[in-house]
Amino acid sequence: MKKKRIVSGMRPTGRIHLGHIHGAISNWIRLQEEYDCFYFIADWHALTSDYADTKDLKTYIYEIIVDWIASGLDPEKATFFIQSSIKEHAELHLLFSMITPLPWLERNPTYKEQLKEMGQKDLYTYGFLGYPVLQAADILVYKAYGVPVGEDQAPHVEMTREIARRFNHLYKEVFPVPELILAPKSKILGIDRRKMSKSYNNAIYISDPPDEITEKVSQMITDPQRKRKTDPGDPQICNVYSYHEIYTDKETIKQIESDCKTAGIGCVECKRLMARNLNKAIEPLREKREKLLSNMDYVKDIIEEGNKRARNTAQITMEEVREAVRI
Ligand code: TRP
Ligand code: SF4
Repeated sequence: MKKKRIVSGMRPTGRIHLGHIHGAISNWIRLQEEYDCFYFIADWHALTSDYADTKDLKTYIYEIIVDWIASGLDPEKATFFIQSSIKEHAELHLLFSMITPLPWLERNPTYKEQLKEMGQKDLYTYGFLGYPVLQAADILVYKAYGVPVGEDQAPHVEMTREIARRFNHLYKEVFPVPELILAPKSKILGIDRRKMSKSYNNAIYISDPPDEITEKVSQMITDPQRKRKTDPGDPQICNVYSYHEIYTDKETIKQIESDCKTAGIGCVECKRLMARNLNKAIEPLREKREKLLSNMDYVKDIIEEGNKRARNTAQITMEEVREAVRI
């Protein structure tokens, strides 16, 4: 039986950190067995906000694909490609822009939030407002069955569904209305307990050397109520403990939990233990990453292969689309 297709993308705004791994990537890895997965680098989307600073864009594109493979995404199972290499996304985006009512875009919660957040950048641009229209083109040009994303992207998938319905209604039934495939919520936070993000400078990267990871872990904010080693702590509100829950064996976790609550273990030691386990888990990824970086021809071949496969599919859809629009 033919596998159902799913499509998801990532903006090339930096190297891969643990937030990406436990948010999107682990979910993508799970899905690559069951679905025909199209995973791409959304470089045009990166331009919607970072249009003024493009010097690292190409480096990030390659580094992210290297990090994807190092983390366990498999080019034998999934298709990797680059958005800007498939011009059909742009053509479909243009056609969708004709039929997308402005109020849909203006009331998009992600849009309103980001405008507020990104104080210093000028985001009053045409492209930024149209972000979800481009995303709809990314998804629908492959007639995706589903879109695996985090909760923050749910409004964009909803808008994709609305655009698909509107197109089908105006012209012809071309697009399946794609399903939202919600990723399980990640408990991993940045070292300052905020959402892990490059712009907050609180991220742990899989490309970080071991001593840097140890240093970052030592800076992590723990249970803020626990001021002295003799104070009992609450692991449930401690960031380090959430990491233990992922990287430490069950028995040790139990021990840490009870030791923390009775002030039997200090945070310094607890962190040292966690850093060691985290480094042990990252070590194989780090090695694979180094190997790939010294064999970039192989990586470029994978991208070329993926681009080709994606382009073929997109071209077939666009013929249908042009015919439906009669253009
Ligand atoms: N907006 C997504 C994000 O920031 C990235 C993205 C672009 C995407 N196009 C997509 C995700 C299509 C899923 C499908 O995470
Ligand atoms: Fe967190 Fe460990 Fe300190 Fe408890 S002992 S507060 S779990 S770092």
